Amino acid sequence: MKNSTLAATLNMDLPDKTFLDLLAFNEKMAELGRISAGIIHEVNTPLSVIISAAQLVMQEEGVPEAALEMVERIHSEAQRLSRMTRGILTFARRDDESSGEMDICRTIHEVVTFLRYEIGKRSIEVEERYDDHLPMLPGGENRLKQVILNLTMNAVQAMSRGGKLSVSCSLAPDGCTEIRISDTGPGIPPESISRIFDPFYTTKKEGEGTGLGLFVSRNLVKEMDGSLSVRSLPGAGTTFTITFAPPVA
Ligand SMILES: Nc1ncnc2c1ncn2[C@@H]1O[C@H](COP(=O)(O)OP(=O)(O)O)[C@@H](O)[C@H]1O
Ligand SMILES: [Mg+2]
Repeated sequence: MKNSTLAATLNMDLPDKTFLDLLAFNEKMAELGRISAGIIHEVNTPLSVIISAAQLVMQEEGVPEAALEMVERIHSEAQRLSRMTRGILTFARRDDESSGEMDICRTIHEVVTFLRYEIGKRSIEVEERYDDHLPMLPGGENRLKQVILNLTMNAVQAMSRGGKLSVSCSLAPDGCTEIRISDTGPGIPPESISRIFDPFYTTKKEGEGTGLGLFVSRNLVKEMDGSLSVRSLPGAGTTFTITFAPPVA
């Protein structure tokens, strides 16, 4: 049905096509998320069996040295997989399950730890800096994780030839909490910087980018009463800053 016919039938103003596309895409991604969370859950059960079985063999006496080495290898690799799948499940969790207060630094650090595997495959140095005594913020941990994930993945993708990723969280003199994600990638040309938050704006190849990361991130930050801004120096790198006003007492 055409958008205008649908609008007439429902007797309401329907959003434009871009928005409808976005809704459809969002639905698809949500469905994909549910399916993969299910699969990952299924993978975890045999993984725990492998880990326990390996542990049992490791405790046996008289296992030949070479065999023991192999079993230890099976054990540590299975544990690595298990940590990874648990990390993915944390992201798949719905946001309303994470209410209450949020420790920002811990939340950011969890995402960076989760990504270290992806980052480790490239020659990218990672630096994390967190101020002490940052205020706790109201919930929304999974929303913030999603945003940090989008921004760090963009930074990593921008540094295809290696570089440095800096993640920090600090208290500004005006009491605002500022999270910065910086890279030493090629930067964003001034003529495109006003478009990067637009839905479906991407400079990546088909299959590598959807152009939704920054659009979704800015909206998620807004929902958390914060703001997301960017500064970029072509040739030198890019910094995204998330700012949260001091919590009202
Ligand atoms: N750290 C960065 N360095 C350089 N360009 C960036 C960076 N982050 C985002 N961009 C630009 O903004 C575009 C939109 O980003 P995003 O909304 O996350 O979509 P996607 O990553 O799917 O392309 C990217 O395609 C890229 O051109
Ligand atoms: Mg992206």
